[in-house]
Amino acid sequence: MQTTLIILKPDAVQRGFAGEIITRFEKKGLQIVACKMMQISDDLAARHYEAHKERPFYPGLVKFMTSSPVVVLALRGVGAIDISRKLMGATFGSNADPGTIRGDFGLSNSFNLIHGSDSPEAAERELTLFFSQSEILNWDRAINNWVYDMTQGDPE
Ligand code: RTP
Ligand code: MG
Repeated sequence: MQTTLIILKPDAVQRGFAGEIITRFEKKGLQIVACKMMQISDDLAARHYEAHKERPFYPGLVKFMTSSPVVVLALRGVGAIDISRKLMGATFGSNADPGTIRGDFGLSNSFNLIHGSDSPEAAERELTLFFSQSEILNWDRAINNWVYDMTQGDPE
């Protein structure tokens, strides 16, 4: 099982899409293991996007991410990182495919609604940035045996 960090960015929350976006992940079968609303500080935004520090869009990105509350989630499932990125769609709303979150809910390239970790290493780093260990709940989900084929022991 993988766990990934998802951020519903300020535009998603302001536009009232938090519920609809979370529903997409739930319907897919990913399990919510942490969820909170917060306002990201300058320091946290800088640490989260440190890989982009030298990019021309970086100041605008930090300003956007700290401008208004976000909803942060930890989602768990087999292949959760890549599956979440597929549900999100391409980075820019202007060319994200219909059927994806970015493709269906936005057309801006910088206000692109959602963040998802892009690798296991990034997920581990980002989950630690946003959640304490006690905020991630390792709960048994009653529907697991219907979301996954567990007849061989491992989730398929
Ligand atoms: P994210 O990290 O937010 O999940 O998005 P991503 O992996 O799809 O895209 P990434 O390349 O990591 O870029 C991070 C965020 O920076 C903004 N961006 N703006 N104006 C631009 O050229 C530009 N390029 C990137 C987007 O908000 C993107 O999500
Ligand atoms: Mg990224």
